Amino acid sequence: MKLHCSLWCSLWSLLLLGAGSLLLLVRLQDLTDTVHQLTPGVSGLVAPRWPLDKDVVTDSAAADGVGPPQSSLSVFSDSSVGSKQPVTKRHRKLLLKSSFAASSAPSGGEEQQQLKLARVQVSRRRLLNEVCAKYQPGVIERPVSRREVSRVYVEDRSRLLYCEVPKAGCSNWKRVLMVLGGSATSTRDIPHDAAHYTNHLQRLDSFDHVGIAKRLRSYTKVLFVREPFERLVSAFRDKFESPNSYYHPVFGRPIISRYRANATRTALRTGTGVTFREFVQYLLDVRRPVGMDIHWEPVSQLCNPCLLRYNFIGKFESLEKEANFLLQSIGAPRNLTFPDFKDRNPLAERTSSQITQRYFSQLNSTERQKAYDFYYMDYLMFNYPRPFKDLH
Ligand SMILES: *[C@@H]1O[C@H](CO)[C@@H](O)[C@H](O)[C@H]1NC(C)=O
Ligand SMILES: *[C@@H]1O[C@H](CO)[C@@H](O)[C@H](O)[C@H]1NC(C)=O
Ligand SMILES: *[C@@H]1O[C@H](CO)[C@@H](O)[C@H](O)[C@H]1NC(C)=O
Repeated sequence: MKLHCSLWCSLWSLLLLGAGSLLLLVRLQDLTDTVHQLTPGVSGLVAPRWPLDKDVVTDSAAADGVGPPQSSLSVFSDSSVGSKQPVTKRHRKLLLKSSFAASSAPSGGEEQQQLKLARVQVSRRRLLNEVCAKYQPGVIERPVSRREVSRVYVEDRSRLLYCEVPKAGCSNWKRVLMVLGGSATSTRDIPHDAAHYTNHLQRLDSFDHVGIAKRLRSYTKVLFVREPFERLVSAFRDKFESPNSYYHPVFGRPIISRYRANATRTALRTGTGVTFREFVQYLLDVRRPVGMDIHWEPVSQLCNPCLLRYNFIGKFESLEKEANFLLQSIGAPRNLTFPDFKDRNPLAERTSSQITQRYFSQLNSTERQKAYDFYYMDYLMFNYPRPFKDLH
């Protein structure tokens, strides 16, 4: 899309100027834990503004230890972008300090990698800002409702909020949150069901309004997304292509009965054998016979990114690298790295872009276009390219 290109071009020129953003890598814990405890409580439930910290000092001031203490959020906020501070020796020292645990003396390559990841964060947030300003102007002025934070998990010890996006690494994120919170010692010991059903994790909507507002204002808010069509295919394969005692009866039955002519009695009874095309027909039907589900709900609705303004926007496509970067930046225990467990149907091949193309080739161009329209905001907000040439 043209919009993408022009956004990117201007983004990159800003980024080139914004060498000050390199300080993003400064370890949060080294800075301060205090500033947000000192901020006065809010009366209503108001979403934080963006950029979050008006009181953030410039990079050079922070590095010299003058000025007010920097909040943890500044590490993943845009406040340092646009200042033209070069990378000073001091910055480098801080960067080195925060480098990966394994090596006591990180190589220059690692350092470069981290700078790159930090810059990626800056540009993702910037793009999201632009899209939000255009499509949901004023949204951050309004209060946040409980429902709007109902997918957000809380980890108080590391001051982390994680919005759960199914099919984008969420089981492993829950494991990591459990270890961070102290309810498990290692991600390795946590079976899939425990990660989801006995995880001892609290959701943000379980707090009162003051508790919600406080956390939204001061915690690092994390979102991991995935290419929308790939996420959709992954959800379809997971829920409909292997036995499932919930999705087959609850979704499969109404889908087959509505969209399949001459369905067999068995198919109508079990709800097993939904085709991808039938599934997409259901998804695009304005009068769906059964409601939405978090596994295929657009992230733009599931996690309300314009309202909540995430500090860290990771991508499934580089999940481990970006997750480990985040863990390191928040000062997680050095031996805690992001796990690589494939929970559901471990024998089935991971959904790739080739597999995604194969499923979408079962649709005609109108259906593909409508599916793209359905996930259009996700494509726009998270800068995924058009998955088929004929889409517009
Ligand atoms: C990390 O090290 C600590 C002790 O330093 C230990 O208690 C913990 O189990 C280790 N965690 C993992 C994930 O290995
Ligand atoms: C459904 O069955 C009817 C009658 O047996 C037949 O005429 C029709 O072509 C079938 N439709 C499909 C889509 O198979
Ligand atoms: C594509 O399939 C839909 C049914 O889902 C049909 O209504 C539409 O006419 C088809 N479009 C084209 C271009 O074949």
